[in-house]
Amino acid sequence: MTGASALPMVARARGVMVVDTDGREYVDGCSGTICVNIGHGVPEVLEAISRQSQLVTFAHRSQFRNQPVEDLSAMVLSIAGPGYKEVVYNNSGSETMETALRLAMHHQAGTGRDIIVSQRPSYHGMTAGALAVSGHPPRRRNVDALLGGAAKLEQVSSSRDAEILPSLEDWMSVLERVDPARVAAVVLEPVGGAASGGAETEVRTLRGLREFCDSVGALLIADEVMTGFGRLGEWFGVSKSGIVADLLVTGKGLSGGYLPIGACIVGERVLPGVSAAEVSLGHTMSGNPLAAAAALAVLTYTRDHRLVSRAREVGAHLRRELTLIAQSVPLLRPPRGRGLLLGMGIEQDPVEFATTPLNRRIVDAALRNGLLVYPSGVDARTQSVMVCPPLTIRDREVEMLIARFTRAVSESFAAERV
Ligand SMILES: Cc1ncc(COP(=O)(O)O)c(C=O)c1O
Repeated sequence: MTGASALPMVARARGVMVVDTDGREYVDGCSGTICVNIGHGVPEVLEAISRQSQLVTFAHRSQFRNQPVEDLSAMVLSIAGPGYKEVVYNNSGSETMETALRLAMHHQAGTGRDIIVSQRPSYHGMTAGALAVSGHPPRRRNVDALLGGAAKLEQVSSSRDAEILPSLEDWMSVLERVDPARVAAVVLEPVGGAASGGAETEVRTLRGLREFCDSVGALLIADEVMTGFGRLGEWFGVSKSGIVADLLVTGKGLSGGYLPIGACIVGERVLPGVSAAEVSLGHTMSGNPLAAAAALAVLTYTRDHRLVSRAREVGAHLRRELTLIAQSVPLLRPPRGRGLLLGMGIEQDPVEFATTPLNRRIVDAALRNGLLVYPSGVDARTQSVMVCPPLTIRDREVEMLIARFTRAVSESFAAERV
């Protein structure tokens, strides 16, 4: 498949099924781009959007408070639990990462802390600051010159062949080398998506980095754009480790793809006594009532339908099925990740990968077979295909997904052998 013109034209979508204008049906096996957490066309969400649009669609936060934003903030803070004080809104995950980075720099003003340390591979967004902290060479191609800035960036890579993400020791050796007294913030994805296909930051690494940040006065920024709001079978990726991040960056699943919104959940220790929203400013549409109403309806639906525990149960079932497929296809690795954020690594010679990456071939074959899955990875070592359906997927839809994925994989690997 080359270029957007070769793509099918979408007509409509309901639940986990998407239909194109030729009437072909696709199982949405990757929730769009891992954002449509509660499925497409949920009536409760459409009604909430319609209701709000009859009342007011835009009111600027400098002129009015609005009820959907206030209710959403209360709900987000109650989901996040103790240790967080405020929610700052934006229109995307990328903008929310920018907000977190700006807040971190404001917090560290006057301390001499000017270095941000992130991991490689990682992906934090397409805007300049978010891309600057991303360990994603293909997405940085040709634009490195735009990604400078006053803050210095350092990246930590894994020293272990078998592990894609760095260990606590890998992190500590970089943090010690750059000088702990200059570290402003540490940025990480608890479970990786676009760059590392479901690779997990170990719990001991999360806890160790929390301790490090506490001991030197650095901030811990957790990018939960893909992991946040239930996909992992827990509300957040950091939940399992029991740590509180200083800044939780969210997007995608917050509104389940219904309308653009992102939220930075600000820890109590950040900018004490100061309103983070006032310091970080924002964009024209940040905190608009319509997107907030959609997000509120999505989170309410997630909670009321117990989709977080459902992600755990269905995820365990899907993982078993994908593991069986991997056992019969030697170059396909068993799934990484948690809950319904699952990615399968693929082994391929780097030279062949450069011309015909197998993950792209699987994604294209899946599309021909009526299934959407998502390619991820930054190179031959990390290339993966992600299988991350909506948390609402039913058992018979999982069966359809598996049958179509099996066909796509066998076509792709048959082509490989020709
Ligand atoms: C972990 C992570 N952070 C940030 C982003 C950027 O979010 P957005 O595409 O909404 O700007 C993404 C998008 O894929 C992501 O997966």
